[in-house]
Amino acid sequence: MLQNIVFSEKALELQATAREIADKYVRPLAAKFDKDQEYNREAAEAVAKAGLFKTFVPEEYGGYGAGTLALSLVTEELAKADSGFGVAFAVNALGTTPIVVGGTEEQKKKWLPAIANGEKFVAFCLSEKNAGSDASGLAVTADKEGDTYRICGEKKWTTNGGVADIYSVFCVTDPTSKSRRISAILVEKGTDGFTIGKVEDKMGIRCVPVVETHFDNVIVPQENLIGGREGMGFKHAMMTLDKARPCVAAQAVGAAQGALDLALVYANRRRQFGAPISSFQMVQKMLADSATKTEAARWLVYAAAAYSDAGVPSVTKLAAMSKCYATDVAMEVATDAVQIFGGYGFMEDYPIAKFFRDAKILQIYEGTNQVQRLVIARNLIKEADKLAHLAEYIPFEEQKTYKPESVEA
Ligand code: CAA
Repeated sequence: MLQNIVFSEKALELQATAREIADKYVRPLAAKFDKDQEYNREAAEAVAKAGLFKTFVPEEYGGYGAGTLALSLVTEELAKADSGFGVAFAVNALGTTPIVVGGTEEQKKKWLPAIANGEKFVAFCLSEKNAGSDASGLAVTADKEGDTYRICGEKKWTTNGGVADIYSVFCVTDPTSKSRRISAILVEKGTDGFTIGKVEDKMGIRCVPVVETHFDNVIVPQENLIGGREGMGFKHAMMTLDKARPCVAAQAVGAAQGALDLALVYANRRRQFGAPISSFQMVQKMLADSATKTEAARWLVYAAAAYSDAGVPSVTKLAAMSKCYATDVAMEVATDAVQIFGGYGFMEDYPIAKFFRDAKILQIYEGTNQVQRLVIARNLIKEADKLAHLAEYIPFEEQKTYKPESVEA
């Protein structure tokens, strides 16, 4: 399977378009939008106009159905210029995927074409103040009232909040159930009672808003229940994350490559002791390790994305591996890039400090890297049944059990 990774013509075309947009609209203004914590609307409009939102929407609903591999290529290019803009783009795919994987035919027809055209932006509302890694511990409720749902509660860390027009909101519909507690419901911007709360002041990815979303008795029609059946929300969230995590990983590869490119240019120009610092072996080690790890991460992302496109059941493990590995690499590469820039690297008037600040969240959102390792380990242990035949090579020693002598009274 892995040796068959092929980039379709469409994927390569989308990648080239993303690169052009990144060069023209994203990189030149990245520092400004970071400083002002402002959304780069012009770049988002360019992305929409170029049809890049069609990448993740199936063909029958107005998209290109180009798959996760193509989406990874596009995300990597945008994130290379600005990691924050990378997520501003990719989070639309995250918010849309519950409809793609779990929506009814009517829902797909109703919601997806406008997303594909870039007319409507999307957000994903899963996390809450008390439900981060513990994604099933939600408190936001959706009560059925006739042919509507009444949604009450608050979501935390909604990326794209305020910018997005459509929100995939994960709510408790059956508090008595353990495995079927949660359902995903679509809420539109402007619905009565739905407001944006606190806008977070962030360490990195400052060009994309991350907000609290408040639902104060929000009434939506029952047609907005994704899949038309209650209790499927947790499954839909997990299936969505399986598809989205390779894209976070692609964002990380872009971020790592962007930092490394700057470090290379700097190392060739910066002179110390009468020579460019790229001629010093300790700097070369950092450059060589950064490039090797970035390339390894890139191909792990492509493998996870190709598995996802092929519908291979073990994609959960590979998606988690790619997210965990690539985002750790992005943090390491950005850290070494700052080191190569030395004192200048610590200053905000040089672009590398932003790469460092932006990298940290990659290890946290869409499942912390601790959660990814847990998912990887759980799957490995489950799959180890297939390795049972190896047990005969391991000389397990039987523990003798000693019965205590009966004690005479
Ligand atoms: N696909 C389909 N179903 C899945 C699944 C998957 N990958 N993983 C689990 N499930 C199903 C299980 O089969 C099980 O179903 P049944 O009840 O029918 O048996 C059910 O879901 C519960 O599974 P677990 O027992 O494994 O669940 P858990 O409570 O132990 O938690 C977890 C698993 C991996 C820790 C999960 O809670 C998790 O991924 N947490 C991290 C949450 C996360 O990633 N949040 C990110 C928020 S989004 C974000 O950050 C966006 C942004 O801002 C950009």
